Amino acid sequence: MSTLTEKEGLLILAIETSCDETSAAIVKNGRTVLSNIIHSQIALHETYGGVVPEIASRSHIEKINEVIEKALAQAQVSLHEIDIIAVTYGPGLVGALLVGVSQAKAIAYALDKPLIPIHHIEGHIAANFLEHKQLRPPFLSLVVSGGHTHLIAVKDYGKFEILGQTRDDAAGEAFDKIARAIGFGYPGGPKIENEAKKGNPYAIPFPKAKVENAPYDFSFSGLKSAVLNYLHKAKQRGENVNLSDLAASFQQAVIDALIEKTALVIEKYSYSTLVLAGGVAANRSLVFQLRKWCEEHRIKFFAPSLVYCTDNAAMIAAAAYDEYRQGNRSNYTLNAVPNLKIGERKYEQW
Ligand code: KG4
Ligand code: ZN
Repeated sequence: MSTLTEKEGLLILAIETSCDETSAAIVKNGRTVLSNIIHSQIALHETYGGVVPEIASRSHIEKINEVIEKALAQAQVSLHEIDIIAVTYGPGLVGALLVGVSQAKAIAYALDKPLIPIHHIEGHIAANFLEHKQLRPPFLSLVVSGGHTHLIAVKDYGKFEILGQTRDDAAGEAFDKIARAIGFGYPGGPKIENEAKKGNPYAIPFPKAKVENAPYDFSFSGLKSAVLNYLHKAKQRGENVNLSDLAASFQQAVIDALIEKTALVIEKYSYSTLVLAGGVAANRSLVFQLRKWCEEHRIKFFAPSLVYCTDNAAMIAAAAYDEYRQGNRSNYTLNAVPNLKIGERKYEQW
Protein backbone atom coordinates (compact mmCIF):
# COMPACT_ATOMS: atom_id res chain seq x y z
CA MET A 1 0.00 0.00 0.00
CA SER A 2 1.40 3.35 -1.00
CA THR A 3 1.75 6.05 1.64
CA LEU A 4 -0.07 9.31 1.14
CA THR A 5 1.54 12.68 1.47
CA GLU A 6 -0.30 16.00 1.53
CA LYS A 7 2.85 17.87 0.43
CA GLU A 8 1.71 18.22 -3.14
CA GLY A 9 -1.92 17.56 -2.45
CA LEU A 10 -4.09 14.48 -2.41
CA LEU A 11 -5.65 13.76 -5.76
CA ILE A 12 -9.14 12.33 -5.44
CA LEU A 13 -10.99 10.63 -8.28
CA ALA A 14 -14.69 10.76 -7.42
CA ILE A 15 -17.52 8.93 -9.17
CA GLU A 16 -21.25 9.74 -8.95
CA THR A 17 -23.94 7.58 -10.61
CA SER A 18 -26.82 7.62 -8.11
CA CYS A 19 -29.53 8.79 -10.49
CA ASP A 20 -29.46 10.19 -14.03
CA GLU A 21 -26.07 11.89 -14.20
CA THR A 22 -22.84 10.00 -14.89
CA SER A 23 -20.12 12.12 -13.33
CA ALA A 24 -16.41 11.88 -12.53
CA ALA A 25 -14.19 14.56 -11.01
CA ILE A 26 -10.57 15.06 -10.07
CA VAL A 27 -10.24 17.24 -6.98
CA LYS A 28 -7.08 18.23 -5.16
CA ASN A 29 -7.23 18.12 -1.36
CA GLY A 30 -11.00 17.86 -1.61
CA ARG A 31 -11.29 21.56 -2.40
CA THR A 32 -9.62 22.46 -5.72
CA VAL A 33 -11.59 21.13 -8.67
CA LEU A 34 -9.29 20.13 -11.54
CA SER A 35 -12.14 18.63 -13.55
CA ASN A 36 -15.82 17.81 -13.05
CA ILE A 37 -17.34 15.97 -16.01
CA ILE A 38 -21.11 15.46 -15.98
CA HIS A 39 -22.95 13.43 -18.58
CA SER A 40 -26.68 14.09 -18.23
CA GLN A 41 -29.20 11.44 -19.28
CA ILE A 42 -32.12 13.88 -19.44
CA ALA A 43 -32.65 13.29 -23.17
CA LEU A 44 -33.05 9.54 -22.55
CA HIS A 45 -35.68 9.92 -19.82
CA GLU A 46 -37.56 12.96 -21.14
CA THR A 47 -40.03 10.96 -23.23
CA TYR A 48 -41.04 8.90 -20.18
CA GLY A 49 -41.67 11.97 -17.97
CA GLY A 50 -39.18 10.80 -15.33
CA VAL A 51 -36.11 8.67 -14.69
CA VAL A 52 -36.47 5.03 -15.84
CA PRO A 53 -34.14 3.06 -13.52
CA GLU A 54 -33.06 0.38 -15.99
CA ILE A 55 -32.34 2.92 -18.73
CA ALA A 56 -30.30 4.92 -16.19
CA SER A 57 -28.15 1.90 -15.24
CA ARG A 58 -27.55 0.95 -18.86
CA SER A 59 -26.52 4.48 -19.78
CA HIS A 60 -24.15 4.70 -16.78
CA ILE A 61 -22.42 1.49 -17.83
CA GLU A 62 -21.99 2.78 -21.36
CA LYS A 63 -20.66 6.19 -20.34
CA ILE A 64 -18.67 5.64 -17.15
CA ASN A 65 -15.26 4.91 -18.71
CA GLU A 66 -15.53 7.78 -21.16
CA VAL A 67 -16.53 10.20 -18.38
CA ILE A 68 -13.59 9.11 -16.18
CA GLU A 69 -11.17 9.40 -19.09
CA LYS A 70 -12.40 12.90 -19.84
CA ALA A 71 -12.04 13.88 -16.16
CA LEU A 72 -8.43 12.62 -16.10
CA ALA A 73 -7.59 14.29 -19.42
CA GLN A 74 -9.07 17.64 -18.43
CA ALA A 75 -7.20 17.56 -15.10
CA GLN A 76 -4.02 16.48 -16.94
CA VAL A 77 -3.59 13.65 -14.47
CA SER A 78 -2.92 9.97 -15.13
CA LEU A 79 -4.82 7.25 -13.30
CA HIS A 80 -1.59 6.25 -11.52
CA GLU A 81 -1.27 9.69 -9.94
CA ILE A 82 -4.64 9.32 -8.16
CA ASP A 83 -4.35 8.90 -4.36
CA ILE A 84 -7.95 8.19 -3.36
CA ILE A 85 -11.03 6.76 -5.09
CA ALA A 86 -14.37 8.12 -3.83
CA VAL A 87 -17.83 6.96 -4.83
CA THR A 88 -21.49 7.58 -4.00
CA TYR A 89 -22.84 4.33 -2.51
CA GLY A 90 -26.32 5.57 -1.51
CA PRO A 91 -29.04 6.67 -1.45
CA GLY A 92 -30.26 6.37 -5.03
CA LEU A 93 -31.34 3.87 -7.66
CA VAL A 94 -29.67 0.56 -6.83
CA GLY A 95 -28.74 -0.38 -10.41
CA ALA A 96 -27.37 3.09 -11.06
CA LEU A 97 -25.36 3.14 -7.82
CA LEU A 98 -23.90 -0.31 -8.53
CA VAL A 99 -22.28 0.92 -11.76
CA GLY A 100 -20.30 3.60 -9.89
CA VAL A 101 -19.55 1.37 -6.90
CA SER A 102 -18.24 -1.50 -9.09
CA GLN A 103 -16.13 0.89 -11.12
CA ALA A 104 -14.66 2.54 -8.03
CA LYS A 105 -13.89 -0.84 -6.42
CA ALA A 106 -12.17 -2.08 -9.57
CA ILE A 107 -9.99 1.05 -9.85
CA ALA A 108 -9.14 1.11 -6.13
CA TYR A 109 -8.21 -2.58 -6.24
CA ALA A 110 -6.11 -2.25 -9.40
CA LEU A 111 -4.26 0.84 -8.11
CA ASP A 112 -4.11 -0.38 -4.48
CA LYS A 113 -5.54 2.94 -3.24
CA PRO A 114 -8.06 3.83 -0.51
CA LEU A 115 -11.75 3.49 -1.39
CA ILE A 116 -13.98 6.10 0.28
CA PRO A 117 -17.78 5.56 0.12
CA ILE A 118 -19.92 8.71 0.29
CA HIS A 119 -23.55 9.44 1.10
CA HIS A 120 -25.04 11.40 -1.82
CA ILE A 121 -26.68 14.07 0.35
CA GLU A 122 -23.56 14.51 2.49
CA GLY A 123 -21.89 15.18 -0.88
CA HIS A 124 -24.48 17.86 -1.72
CA ILE A 125 -23.73 19.62 1.58
CA ALA A 126 -19.95 19.31 1.00
CA ALA A 127 -20.37 21.00 -2.41
CA ASN A 128 -20.32 24.23 -0.42
CA PHE A 129 -16.76 23.56 0.80
CA LEU A 130 -15.52 23.69 -2.81
CA GLU A 131 -16.23 27.38 -3.24
CA HIS A 132 -16.60 28.81 0.25
CA LYS A 133 -13.15 28.19 1.71
CA GLN A 134 -14.03 29.96 4.98
CA LEU A 135 -17.00 27.67 5.64
CA ARG A 136 -16.54 25.28 8.59
CA PRO A 137 -18.99 23.28 10.72
CA PRO A 138 -21.03 23.73 12.83
CA PHE A 139 -23.85 25.10 10.68
CA LEU A 140 -27.44 24.41 9.68
CA SER A 141 -28.00 22.97 6.21
CA LEU A 142 -31.22 23.09 4.23
CA VAL A 143 -31.02 20.22 1.75
CA VAL A 144 -33.53 20.37 -1.09
CA SER A 145 -33.28 17.78 -3.86
CA GLY A 146 -35.42 15.35 -5.84
CA GLY A 147 -35.51 12.88 -2.95
CA HIS A 148 -34.75 14.97 0.14
CA THR A 149 -36.04 18.04 1.96
CA HIS A 150 -34.14 18.09 5.22
CA LEU A 151 -32.97 20.56 7.84
CA ILE A 152 -29.70 19.09 9.04
CA ALA A 153 -27.44 20.12 11.89
CA VAL A 154 -23.90 19.70 10.55
CA LYS A 155 -22.11 19.39 13.88
CA ASP A 156 -18.69 18.58 12.46
CA TYR A 157 -17.24 17.01 9.30
CA GLY A 158 -19.23 13.79 8.89
CA LYS A 159 -21.41 14.43 11.98
CA PHE A 160 -25.06 15.11 11.21
CA GLU A 161 -28.37 15.35 13.03
CA ILE A 162 -31.70 15.67 11.26
CA LEU A 163 -33.81 18.42 12.81
CA GLY A 164 -36.65 18.47 10.28
CA GLN A 165 -37.66 16.64 7.12
CA THR A 166 -40.50 16.16 4.68
CA ARG A 167 -43.31 13.83 5.65
CA ASP A 168 -44.22 13.10 2.03
CA ASP A 169 -42.89 14.58 -1.22
CA ALA A 170 -39.47 16.21 -1.44
CA ALA A 171 -39.40 19.79 -2.76
CA GLY A 172 -37.81 18.75 -6.08
CA GLU A 173 -40.30 15.90 -6.42
CA ALA A 174 -43.16 18.42 -6.01
CA PHE A 175 -41.64 20.58 -8.78
CA ASP A 176 -41.34 17.51 -11.03
CA LYS A 177 -44.90 16.28 -10.37
CA ILE A 178 -46.51 19.69 -10.95
CA ALA A 179 -44.46 20.20 -14.12
CA ARG A 180 -45.69 16.85 -15.40
CA ALA A 181 -49.32 17.77 -14.61
CA ILE A 182 -48.98 21.06 -16.51
CA GLY A 183 -47.33 19.25 -19.41
CA PHE A 184 -43.89 20.80 -19.01
CA GLY A 185 -42.10 17.43 -18.96
CA TYR A 186 -38.99 16.30 -17.09
CA PRO A 187 -37.08 17.64 -15.18
CA GLY A 188 -39.70 19.98 -13.76
CA GLY A 189 -37.70 22.34 -11.57
CA PRO A 190 -35.93 24.42 -14.24
CA LYS A 191 -39.05 24.49 -16.45
CA ILE A 192 -41.30 25.76 -13.64
CA GLU A 193 -38.69 28.32 -12.63
CA ASN A 194 -38.54 29.68 -16.19
CA GLU A 195 -42.31 29.90 -16.51
CA ALA A 196 -42.59 31.49 -13.05
CA LYS A 197 -40.41 34.41 -14.16
CA LYS A 198 -43.33 35.63 -16.28
CA GLY A 199 -45.99 35.18 -13.59
CA ASN A 200 -47.30 36.75 -10.38
CA PRO A 201 -46.22 34.70 -7.32
CA TYR A 202 -49.20 35.98 -5.32
CA ALA A 203 -51.88 35.42 -8.00
CA ILE A 204 -53.16 32.12 -6.56
CA PRO A 205 -53.20 31.62 -2.77
CA PHE A 206 -52.19 27.98 -2.31
CA PRO A 207 -52.47 26.50 1.22
CA LYS A 208 -49.56 26.31 3.61
CA ALA A 209 -48.93 22.86 5.02
CA LYS A 210 -48.71 22.25 8.75
CA VAL A 211 -47.48 19.00 10.22
CA GLU A 212 -49.16 18.30 13.57
CA ASN A 213 -46.73 18.14 16.51
CA ALA A 214 -43.70 18.47 14.23
CA PRO A 215 -43.06 22.20 13.73
CA TYR A 216 -39.82 21.66 11.77
CA ASP A 217 -41.16 19.07 9.33
CA PHE A 218 -42.29 19.83 5.79
CA SER A 219 -45.21 18.50 3.78
CA PHE A 220 -45.71 19.19 0.09
CA SER A 221 -48.41 16.68 -0.84
CA GLY A 222 -51.23 19.07 0.20
CA LEU A 223 -49.78 21.81 -2.00
CA LYS A 224 -49.45 19.35 -4.86
CA SER A 225 -53.13 18.31 -4.49
CA ALA A 226 -54.22 21.97 -4.32
CA VAL A 227 -52.43 22.74 -7.61
CA LEU A 228 -53.89 19.64 -9.27
CA ASN A 229 -57.41 20.56 -8.00
CA TYR A 230 -57.00 24.07 -9.33
CA LEU A 231 -56.09 22.71 -12.78
CA HIS A 232 -58.92 20.18 -12.68
CA LYS A 233 -61.59 22.74 -11.73
CA ALA A 234 -60.44 25.18 -14.40
CA LYS A 235 -60.66 22.39 -16.99
CA GLN A 236 -64.19 21.43 -15.83
CA ARG A 237 -65.31 25.04 -16.14
CA GLY A 238 -63.62 25.39 -19.49
CA GLU A 239 -61.45 28.23 -18.17
CA ASN A 240 -57.96 28.97 -19.41
CA VAL A 241 -55.25 28.73 -16.76
CA ASN A 242 -52.53 31.35 -16.68
CA LEU A 243 -49.63 28.89 -16.45
CA SER A 244 -47.10 31.59 -15.59
CA ASP A 245 -49.17 32.68 -12.56
CA LEU A 246 -49.71 29.04 -11.59
CA ALA A 247 -45.99 28.23 -11.80
CA ALA A 248 -45.03 31.40 -9.92
CA SER A 249 -47.62 30.86 -7.17
CA PHE A 250 -46.66 27.20 -6.73
CA GLN A 251 -42.95 28.06 -6.61
CA GLN A 252 -43.63 30.82 -4.07
CA ALA A 253 -45.62 28.44 -1.86
CA VAL A 254 -42.65 26.01 -1.82
CA ILE A 255 -40.20 28.83 -1.07
CA ASP A 256 -42.43 30.21 1.72
CA ALA A 257 -42.61 26.76 3.37
CA LEU A 258 -38.83 26.29 3.10
CA ILE A 259 -38.06 29.72 4.58
CA GLU A 260 -40.66 29.41 7.34
CA LYS A 261 -39.33 26.10 8.74
CA THR A 262 -35.70 27.11 8.28
CA ALA A 263 -36.36 30.32 10.20
CA LEU A 264 -37.99 28.38 13.06
CA VAL A 265 -34.97 26.06 13.37
CA ILE A 266 -32.47 28.93 13.18
CA GLU A 267 -34.30 30.74 15.95
CA LYS A 268 -34.79 27.65 18.13
CA TYR A 269 -31.15 26.50 17.94
CA SER A 270 -29.54 29.96 17.55
CA TYR A 271 -27.68 29.13 14.35
CA SER A 272 -25.55 31.87 12.79
CA THR A 273 -24.83 30.10 9.49
CA LEU A 274 -27.18 28.58 6.90
CA VAL A 275 -25.91 26.40 4.05
CA LEU A 276 -28.22 25.55 1.14
CA ALA A 277 -27.64 22.29 -0.80
CA GLY A 278 -29.20 19.99 -3.41
CA GLY A 279 -30.69 20.28 -6.90
CA VAL A 280 -33.47 22.70 -5.93
CA ALA A 281 -30.74 25.14 -4.81
CA ALA A 282 -30.42 25.77 -8.56
CA ASN A 283 -33.63 27.80 -8.20
CA ARG A 284 -32.46 31.42 -8.26
CA SER A 285 -35.66 32.73 -6.69
CA LEU A 286 -35.19 30.42 -3.69
CA VAL A 287 -31.55 31.49 -3.32
CA PHE A 288 -32.46 35.19 -3.63
CA GLN A 289 -35.22 35.03 -1.01
CA LEU A 290 -33.25 32.88 1.44
CA ARG A 291 -30.23 35.17 1.12
CA LYS A 292 -32.44 38.21 1.74
CA TRP A 293 -33.99 36.59 4.82
CA CYS A 294 -30.52 35.74 6.14
CA GLU A 295 -29.24 39.28 5.54
CA GLU A 296 -32.22 40.73 7.40
CA HIS A 297 -31.58 38.38 10.32
CA ARG A 298 -27.77 38.67 10.30
CA ILE A 299 -27.27 35.02 9.40
CA LYS A 300 -24.32 34.02 7.17
CA PHE A 301 -25.65 32.37 4.04
CA PHE A 302 -23.88 29.99 1.65
CA ALA A 303 -25.14 28.29 -1.49
CA PRO A 304 -23.28 26.46 -4.27
CA SER A 305 -23.02 27.93 -7.74
CA LEU A 306 -25.26 26.27 -10.34
CA VAL A 307 -22.88 23.53 -11.50
CA TYR A 308 -22.43 22.25 -7.93
CA CYS A 309 -26.17 22.37 -7.05
CA THR A 310 -27.33 19.43 -9.13
CA ASP A 311 -25.63 16.02 -9.15
CA ASN A 312 -21.87 16.09 -9.78
CA ALA A 313 -18.81 14.14 -8.67
CA ALA A 314 -16.77 17.12 -7.40
CA MET A 315 -19.06 17.36 -4.36
CA ILE A 316 -18.43 13.65 -3.66
CA ALA A 317 -14.67 14.34 -3.67
CA ALA A 318 -15.17 17.24 -1.23
CA ALA A 319 -16.99 14.95 1.22
CA ALA A 320 -14.47 12.13 0.66
CA TYR A 321 -11.52 14.32 1.64
CA ASP A 322 -13.00 14.89 5.10
CA GLU A 323 -14.01 11.24 5.47
CA TYR A 324 -10.47 10.17 4.62
CA ARG A 325 -8.96 12.63 7.13
CA GLN A 326 -11.22 11.12 9.79
CA GLY A 327 -9.85 7.65 9.06
CA ASN A 328 -12.87 6.22 7.25
CA ARG A 329 -12.14 3.83 4.44
CA SER A 330 -13.96 0.82 3.03
CA ASN A 331 -12.67 -2.65 2.29
CA TYR A 332 -13.53 -4.33 -1.01
CA THR A 333 -16.90 -5.71 0.16
CA LEU A 334 -18.49 -2.29 -0.43
CA ASN A 335 -22.04 -2.54 -1.82
CA ALA A 336 -24.65 0.00 -2.92
CA VAL A 337 -27.11 0.99 -0.15
CA PRO A 338 -30.15 2.52 -1.90
CA ASN A 339 -31.89 3.64 1.31
CA LEU A 340 -28.78 4.86 3.16
CA LYS A 341 -29.58 7.35 5.95
CA ILE A 342 -27.71 10.60 6.48
CA GLY A 343 -24.81 10.05 8.87
CA GLU A 344 -24.91 6.25 8.45
CA ARG A 345 -21.72 4.38 7.46
CA LYS A 346 -22.90 1.04 6.05
CA TYR A 347 -19.67 -0.58 4.96
CA GLU A 348 -16.83 -2.55 6.50
CA GLN A 349 -13.83 -0.46 7.47
CA TRP A 350 -10.51 -1.29 5.85
O1 KG4 B 1 -29.85 16.97 -6.34
P1 KG4 B 1 -30.47 16.60 -7.62
O2 KG4 B 1 -29.75 16.91 -8.89
O3 KG4 B 1 -30.79 15.07 -7.62
C1 KG4 B 1 -31.21 14.42 -6.45
O4 KG4 B 1 -30.34 14.14 -5.60
O5 KG4 B 1 -32.46 14.26 -6.32
O6 KG4 B 1 -31.90 17.28 -7.63
C2 KG4 B 1 -32.78 17.10 -8.69
C3 KG4 B 1 -34.05 17.85 -8.36
C4 KG4 B 1 -35.17 17.60 -9.37
O7 KG4 B 1 -36.35 17.32 -8.67
C5 KG4 B 1 -35.26 18.92 -10.13
O8 KG4 B 1 -36.54 19.20 -10.63
C6 KG4 B 1 -34.83 19.91 -9.06
O9 KG4 B 1 -33.80 19.27 -8.37
N1 KG4 B 1 -34.35 21.17 -9.65
C7 KG4 B 1 -34.98 22.36 -9.47
C8 KG4 B 1 -34.28 23.29 -10.28
N2 KG4 B 1 -33.24 22.63 -10.90
C9 KG4 B 1 -33.32 21.33 -10.50
N3 KG4 B 1 -36.04 22.69 -8.72
C10 KG4 B 1 -36.44 23.98 -8.77
N4 KG4 B 1 -35.82 24.93 -9.51
C11 KG4 B 1 -34.76 24.62 -10.27
N5 KG4 B 1 -34.17 25.56 -11.02
ZN1 ZN C 1 -28.61 14.91 -5.80
